[in-house]
Amino acid sequence: MSHQQIRERIATLPRLDIALKNTPLEEARNLSRTLGGPRIFVKRDDLTGVALGGNKLRNLEFRLAHAMKDDPDTVIVGLDLQSNSARQTVGACNKLDLKTILVLEGRRPNNVQGNLLVDYLLGADVHFAADQREQRAMLDSLAEEVRTSGGRPHILNDNPMFDVASAVAYLEVTLEVMEQLEARELKPDYFYMSSSGKGSAGIMLAKKLLGADFIMQAICATAEFDLPSRTARIANETIAALGLDIEVAEDEVINTEAFVGKGYGIPSDAGDEAVRLFARTEGIILDPIYTGKAAAGLIAHIREGRFEPDDVVVFVHTGGTPAIFKWNELWI
Ligand SMILES: Cc1ncc(COP(=O)(O)O)c(C=O)c1O
Repeated sequence: MSHQQIRERIATLPRLDIALKNTPLEEARNLSRTLGGPRIFVKRDDLTGVALGGNKLRNLEFRLAHAMKDDPDTVIVGLDLQSNSARQTVGACNKLDLKTILVLEGRRPNNVQGNLLVDYLLGADVHFAADQREQRAMLDSLAEEVRTSGGRPHILNDNPMFDVASAVAYLEVTLEVMEQLEARELKPDYFYMSSSGKGSAGIMLAKKLLGADFIMQAICATAEFDLPSRTARIANETIAALGLDIEVAEDEVINTEAFVGKGYGIPSDAGDEAVRLFARTEGIILDPIYTGKAAAGLIAHIREGRFEPDDVVVFVHTGGTPAIFKWNELWI
């Protein structure tokens, strides 16, 4: 399929304009030289504009468009205490003139930092739940409260679009990258990205639809999923949503949990080294929870000798930078 045909399929889905798109693709020459590695191009999806940016703003364009069917005045969402998704949701809702209620899993810390600090700055009504059961109950009771006082709540956790919207977003990002590389007369050999299978499903889909032969290497920040089945399911649901008739198989999925370290949400030495290296060679700020671990994977693969010097590696920077402030001691 051509870029135009793929874009026409994407345009069949309801969508709002929230994120800055066509984000820059920046060659990281110092980083490549320091690592003795391939050519590395960083897709700056940390620069999607709203509330310090990140990958979720692109999928919120589809998720919130879907939510608009209920004509809500308040969006209620339950997420983690330091969620990038929560921060970007509040920012997007502010742009759409919607109120946001966050129900975050965890306790309010004494020192409010990182994404949580930005949530407050953005004016979210922040609540805390001890665990997921309590979180679910609070989502429902807060929605009821909004209704009782004459409002129109939408619980974003019940919105069916999260997986598909993320994949569609990164299908589109792949088109942007291909065009940005084509302008330099280049083609990608590899994509590296922090993903639990949503965004990476979209890049795999792009590869198939375009008949491209790059490798999509995802690096997951958590070990809680069966990544091949999850990614293939999301890719195939996205294919159905776009009315296409191809299929993505589980054995095509390349996603590793090897860089999770001690666990989700806990920085790792390799990830922290990667954050420092990107900062000190390119002035690009990653985060220790997602993008730093993905970059640690890329760095490890370079050190293993997986690449030729003129291979073109696209590293997708999915955002998450406010976490550096939560983990301030790591950088001093
Ligand atoms: C900074 C960052 N990178 C990557 C991801 C993973 O994205 P996905 O699993 O939707 O592809 C997330 C969200 O969970 C994130 O916040």
